[in-house]
Amino acid sequence: KPIVLSGCQPSGQLSIGNYIGALRQWVKMQDTHDCRFMLVDLHAITVRQDPAQLRSATLDGLALYMACGLDPQKSVIFVQSHVPEHAQLAWVLNCYTQMGELNRMTQFKDKSDRHANNINAGLYTYPALMAADILLYQANEVPVGNDQKQHLELARDVATRFNNLYGDVFTIPDPFIPEVGARVMSLQDPNKKMSKSDDNENNFIGLLEDPKKIEKKLKRAVTDSDEQARIYFNPEEKPGVSNLLSIMSAATGQPIAELVPSFEGKMYGHLKKETAEAVVAMLEPIQQRYHEYRNNLDYLNQVMAAGATAASEHAAATLRKVYDVIGFVPRP
Ligand code: AQP
Repeated sequence: KPIVLSGCQPSGQLSIGNYIGALRQWVKMQDTHDCRFMLVDLHAITVRQDPAQLRSATLDGLALYMACGLDPQKSVIFVQSHVPEHAQLAWVLNCYTQMGELNRMTQFKDKSDRHANNINAGLYTYPALMAADILLYQANEVPVGNDQKQHLELARDVATRFNNLYGDVFTIPDPFIPEVGARVMSLQDPNKKMSKSDDNENNFIGLLEDPKKIEKKLKRAVTDSDEQARIYFNPEEKPGVSNLLSIMSAATGQPIAELVPSFEGKMYGHLKKETAEAVVAMLEPIQQRYHEYRNNLDYLNQVMAAGATAASEHAAATLRKVYDVIGFVPRP
């Protein structure tokens, strides 16, 4: 089976962007792929995190992973900082990544604009850590939203460079990007992607949000001031309306081409109401299961321990190989 690796940052409450763009695909891949899913806490600290919040967001994320359908019997589920090889390989890859390459990363540019008082080296070298995450497990496929495509391309370039120097050490990973919902956009500013750590909480919908709040946020979502208020799909002309259509399509499974005619002659308010209903229905079973998992800390600990052991085994083998080809003397 092809090896898959992916993860979310516990940098806030997972959003419907993370679910539609990533988690939902992961659940499907579990039967056909050999999957590893992490909570990437090392990545999360590239932006300053409150320690108590980071700790609880990591456990919330783990419970949410399982509530969304990730199954520790089928997949390796773990916390990134529990497997030290991630940080170790990241250091090595930092030495094989060019500053010119990192300078081109749009996420770095976006995040350094948003966190101008903390433009740290970790934020800059984030893609080298992400490359390490992937290459440690010799992953064949990496399911990501469109926003992470650039980082994945860098991981491929670094792996190819390393292989050219030292032989076949790393598998070159391919991106796996969903057709629908690859980029869920912000509700108030539909020209940028929905982010769980957005300062304006009206921009995103968290997976654990109350149905009333979801309704309110969608009601307030930006559409446009087109006088005819027509509902059709065109992200350039109608970014807000198109985003709602995409979200609704992802939540109901109905293709956008079928949804559009059903709104003929209707108003934006209808679209918002129906999108809210679809999102609430999508989240209801997830929220229910979430509470069961989150209240069972023993079980969460078991999952994390088993996941870390399984992940470490694979990761350590790759790291040994890397250290060897570089010329590090093995620890006697
Ligand atoms: N808006 C989105 N649409 C589609 N996919 C998305 N993903 C994130 N946002 C969207 C996908 O979710 C996975 C996990 O992302 P992450 O948590 O590692 O980091 P991120 O991409 O930086 O997500 P956020 O929510 O925007 O986090 P913050 O706010 O902390 O930066 C990835 O596969 C991503 O593509």
